[in-house]
Amino acid sequence: MDWGMKNRISRMIKPDSGHIVMLAVDHGYFQGPTTGLRNFNETVDPLLPYADTLMVTRGMLRNCIDPTTSTPIMLRVSAGTSVLTELSNEGLSVDIEDAIRHNVAGITLSIFVGGPGERETLLNLGKLVSMGNKYGIPVMAVTAVGREMGRDARYLGLCSRIAAEIGAHMVKTYFCDDFKSVIQATPVPVVIAGGKKIPEADALKMAAAAIDCGAAGVDMGRNIFQAESPVAMIQAVRAVVHKGESPDKAFEMYNDLKASAS
Ligand code: 5RP
Repeated sequence: MDWGMKNRISRMIKPDSGHIVMLAVDHGYFQGPTTGLRNFNETVDPLLPYADTLMVTRGMLRNCIDPTTSTPIMLRVSAGTSVLTELSNEGLSVDIEDAIRHNVAGITLSIFVGGPGERETLLNLGKLVSMGNKYGIPVMAVTAVGREMGRDARYLGLCSRIAAEIGAHMVKTYFCDDFKSVIQATPVPVVIAGGKKIPEADALKMAAAAIDCGAAGVDMGRNIFQAESPVAMIQAVRAVVHKGESPDKAFEMYNDLKASAS
């Protein structure tokens, strides 16, 4: 791995802890004005200082994020479908030159293993990895988005391993029972998506369990920005991911921060 690639990865996955709290706010690219992101800046601006990386689309980056930010950007470069149609038929939506122009730390696309878009999205991953390697930009493959996809260790392990085999530098997947087997079979850093909003205490337990299994961290969206207190929640998630805080202690911290903010 060359210097530029290593440098970009170490801006995202913090060398001190070896972990990352990425904040995912790219949901609008296929589902429009998502709850919690309708007023994008109102939600994202207070969270940005606590995010090790922001996962975002090109349009929201250009229009809503201050270019003086020091938060590394993971730019979503796949699109082409919406919640109204077949989610898996995505293509590449941003060329590498434009990603470089935006000085991003990483680029990301979804792959749809087992879906109608399997072939195209896996070949797109290969193309993107070749482009990323050329310019020292890591590629994160996002697996298993979509209602119809199974979310067990067999399926998630299959998706994650395929992504790594094709050359992804990082993989984003979902937490599941026997998550350790997913991590063991995937020789690149793995982060978990939060998925649908669940109670804050449960989301903290899930983050802690993923770290225990060897995940590099989280790339969480709705379980942070749809929390009752998003700023308290991202700080509690950070305590779990970077400091190894127990979920119970982190939930106490969440409640204390929430109370002191109100
Ligand atoms: C959609 C994505 C989202 O960023 C992802 O689903 C993460 O967000 P959440 O924690 O809300 O699931 O990659 O394709």
